Amino acid sequence: MSDFLKRYIRTHYCGDLNESDIGKTVVLMGWVHRRRDHGGVVFVDLRDREGIVQVVFNPDYSAKTHQEAGRIRSEFVIGIHGVVRRRPEGMENPELKTGVTEVFADELEIFSEARTPPFVLEKSIDLSENIRLKYRYLDLRRPEMQKKLILRSRVAMATRQYFHRNGFIEIETPFLTKSTPEGARDYLVPSRINQGMFYALPQSPQLFKQLLMVSGFDRYYQIVKCFRDEDLRADRQPEFTQIDVEMSFVTEEQIISLIEGLISELFSNCLGRSLTLPFPRLSWQDAIDKYGKDNPDLRFGMEIRDLTDILKNSGFKLFSEITAKGGVVKAIKVDDAKKLSRKDLDDLKGFVSAYGAGGLAWARIGPEGWTSPIFKYLRPEEVRAVNERMGAGEGSVILFVADSPQIVRDSLGNLRVHLAKKLGLIDPGALAFVWVTGFPLFEYSEAEKRFVSTHHPFTAPVSEEIDYIETEPARVHARAYDLVLNGSEIGGGSIRIHQKELQARIFHALGLTVEEVRNKFGFFLDALEYGAPPHGGIAFGLDRLVMLMAGAESIRDVIAFPKTQKATCLLTDAPSSVSIQQLMELSLKIVS
Ligand code: AMO
Repeated sequence: MSDFLKRYIRTHYCGDLNESDIGKTVVLMGWVHRRRDHGGVVFVDLRDREGIVQVVFNPDYSAKTHQEAGRIRSEFVIGIHGVVRRRPEGMENPELKTGVTEVFADELEIFSEARTPPFVLEKSIDLSENIRLKYRYLDLRRPEMQKKLILRSRVAMATRQYFHRNGFIEIETPFLTKSTPEGARDYLVPSRINQGMFYALPQSPQLFKQLLMVSGFDRYYQIVKCFRDEDLRADRQPEFTQIDVEMSFVTEEQIISLIEGLISELFSNCLGRSLTLPFPRLSWQDAIDKYGKDNPDLRFGMEIRDLTDILKNSGFKLFSEITAKGGVVKAIKVDDAKKLSRKDLDDLKGFVSAYGAGGLAWARIGPEGWTSPIFKYLRPEEVRAVNERMGAGEGSVILFVADSPQIVRDSLGNLRVHLAKKLGLIDPGALAFVWVTGFPLFEYSEAEKRFVSTHHPFTAPVSEEIDYIETEPARVHARAYDLVLNGSEIGGGSIRIHQKELQARIFHALGLTVEEVRNKFGFFLDALEYGAPPHGGIAFGLDRLVMLMAGAESIRDVIAFPKTQKATCLLTDAPSSVSIQQLMELSLKIVS
């Protein structure tokens, strides 16, 4: 090993060199991004986390160094000593931040050689994600990946600064704990010392942050890992990070305004974008009625309209039969009919069938009025009323779904988003924030045949509706709020229950027996008996937030070492089997 690192310390990051450094002697370290040989002169694009600079090995400048540079290949790790020069006129590279400079090397150290990487470390490469994840350490070398993780670090730091400035204390809560219900399956960890017993990894620190309020910390936050065993999607990971917040003696309005301050600071500090505050608000009912989802994407219109009253007695049997059975007929409208061919309309039937819809009726409006397979069944006044309700005219296409309210909501809610993407109706730079409020406290679960919490069981009901908890649970609203950005739920929270009796009533309404409540939440109910302040909070998905800030398509792009859709790590091959010895220590046996 040579003594290069003893003789020199790095003076600059490659990507930081600029005009003001011209003439300086510099020491750089990094990876060989590209190497070119031009008529005896070797050019190396040297890369580190801040960017790329061109290094020149010229035989007339340093014959020895030039000769050594002959060995260099892509992804070798090198150090150089040299002088920064202005590039000759006409040779500047406007693509590079450092493009007016180059460094003439008079000393070269090769720290590491490298095998040819399995893929080229360029921008916008079209690669299978599996290869990227298997060689994640190489994928992360790509400048665009480095940028995303650097952004993530800045967002985390700005978050900490914001909360500290506002009097919050960061407190860690345990990972080896008891289950917290957030609606997913738990990851379990077997205990060796207490055989046959299991810890659950936290789905969120919900109960601990509430206990910290009982302890008097008043303002808590934590950037914390959460673990949920659920079906994965582009915006879900089995382990993900929350910005978790809880405060005592507050109302919904105070929490919402604190969070708007945070989000606006993050966008301005980390992206230089200023946001308009306050964010708009939408009631849960309006979100469902107009957009079919509680996480509506407001970057485009195409609102859903209810046509049940107009079409329930129509001559089109399907509509009248479905509405007679309590179903609904709703529709969305596309303004530019030319963009949807006959074949597209057929394909859309397949799209909505995935959400359970039996079909998709359509009407295309031309100069002569409707062209539609259902036209002949409708009366002229029905056609007129539909046009009016939809705001449809020449050039529009109306897309109808008739089915149970849930299927219609899912079909049209998803069709709306699908079409907006397909037809290019979304401005890629738009940021559509919206608070969704007025959620129902409970939802009926067909699968479990009982009411379940829409958020979690610690959410406070609207006080005027408390009396309906036992008699008409579906009527009770929650003091909860979600923040949605571009159709993605980035955060959610609520005012909590701080009285033991009310908390016990909610558990009962959820179908838990007295014994189950004692076993699962006894410690928590006990705590509420020792002086619990009124409190509330919220948690943000840091990964989702950074994904949207970075303009990334997948949450995996802003996580250094993510899992696949099948919850595996292709780099380390986790999860993997363990030895019989390990299982015996835990007194576990694999049965299948
Ligand atoms: P909730 O379950 O809504 O609330 O979670 C808060 C936010 O965390 C993000 N999120 C996820 N991100 C990535 N992968 C996942 N699997 C995943 N699941 C959730 C979302 C979501 O908005 N304890 C409550 C908060 C509270 O009431 O204060 C909670 O965890 O962006």
